[in-house]
Amino acid sequence: MKEKLLPEQLQWVEATFEKVRAKLHAECLRMGDRIPNIPVNGVYPDNGAADLCDWVNGFWGGIMWQMYHATGEKEYRDAALRLEARLDGAFDQFNGLHHDVGFMWLHTAVAHDRIEPDSRAKTRGFHAATLLAGRYNPNGEYLSAWNENRPGWMIIDSMMNVPLLYWATRESGDPRYEAIARRHVHTLMRLLVRDDGSVHHIAVVDPENGELLDYPEGQGYASGSSWSRGQAWAIYGFAISYRHQKDARYLETAKAAAHYFLSNAAQTGNIPLVDFRAPAEPVEYDSTAAVCAACGMLEISSHVTEYEKPLYIQGALGLLRSTVEKFADWDTDTDGVLGGGTVAYHRPEGKNVPIIYGDYFLAEALLRLMDRDIFLW
Ligand code: GLY
Repeated sequence: MKEKLLPEQLQWVEATFEKVRAKLHAECLRMGDRIPNIPVNGVYPDNGAADLCDWVNGFWGGIMWQMYHATGEKEYRDAALRLEARLDGAFDQFNGLHHDVGFMWLHTAVAHDRIEPDSRAKTRGFHAATLLAGRYNPNGEYLSAWNENRPGWMIIDSMMNVPLLYWATRESGDPRYEAIARRHVHTLMRLLVRDDGSVHHIAVVDPENGELLDYPEGQGYASGSSWSRGQAWAIYGFAISYRHQKDARYLETAKAAAHYFLSNAAQTGNIPLVDFRAPAEPVEYDSTAAVCAACGMLEISSHVTEYEKPLYIQGALGLLRSTVEKFADWDTDTDGVLGGGTVAYHRPEGKNVPIIYGDYFLAEALLRLMDRDIFLW
C-alpha cells in the first residue's frame, strides 16, 4: 500500500503513527485489567465492570494485537491475553450476549489464534461463532440482532460480525457457518441497501416468514436517514465479505457505499456528520465513522484495478487527515486518541468523545497504509 502514497503522504502517516504509538504505549502501561471504552475526564473507567458483554469490549484486544504485530513489544501481547481471559466471564452470561460476538472475539481469541495458534483461544472462537450461528432465522434467512424479544430485527453492523463465521468454516471444515453468513449477507443486501449506495440501519421482518415490516429509527437521526457509522459498517463489511467469498455483488455494494460516503463527507470538510440526512443544525460529527470507512476503502483498494485504486486510497487518506487534524489528542497523560466520536444521534451521552473503536480503526488504517497491519476480520 505504501508505494501508492506520495512521499509527503507517507511521511504524514508515519509521523501520525508515531504519535498514536506513544499514546497507546502509555495507555497500555497504565491500563491493568480495565476494559476501555469512553474516557471520563481523560481516564478510562472499566467498561467490563459496567457490562462485560458490551459489544465494544474486544477492541482493546484488537489494538493490542495490532501493536504487538507491528512492534514486537511484549506488553501489548500481555494486555491482549489478559483481556481475552477476562471475556470468558461473558460466556457465563448467555442472556447478555448478542449478534456482536464477532466484534468481541475476532479481536481477542481469534486474533490470538491467528498470530500464535492456541487451542484454548480457538475454542473460545468456536464458542462465539456457534452462538452467532445460533441466531440464524431460516424463515427470513438472517441473523437476528440484539435480544429483548426482537426476533425480527436485523442491522447493518452485523456485517462486521459475519467474518467470525467465515473463520469458523475455514478452521473447522464445516460449511454451515459460511452458508449462514452468505444467506444473511444476501438478505441485508436486499433489505438494507438502497439504490444510491446508502443503507438503512435496521430492518424488521416477520420472524415467521421474513416479510418486511418496518425500518425503525436506529442510532441515526430517523427512519429513512443515513447514520454515517452504519454507512461505514456497510463499506467495510461488504468489502470484507468480498475478500472471503469473492462474490462480485459484495464488492459492488461496498463500492457504492464508499462513493456515497465520500460524496457526503466532502460536503463537511471530509469529516462525516453523525447522520448524512440529519437537519443542517446542530452540526455533529462522528470521527469513528470516518476511520472505519477509511479502513473499508483501503480494503476495497486491494480488490480493484490499478486505475481505480487511487480513488479509495486517497479517499481514505482524506478522511484520516481531516479527522485526525480536528480531533486527535496527543497528550500521553490522558486516555483516548481520537475525539469527536458519537455513539448515537439521539443519545446525549457519548457525543464528541473518544471511543475505543475509533482508536482501533485509526490504528488499523495507519498500519495498513504502512503495510504493517495484520488482518483481523
Ligand atoms: N454496533 C453498534 C454501533 O456501531 O454503535
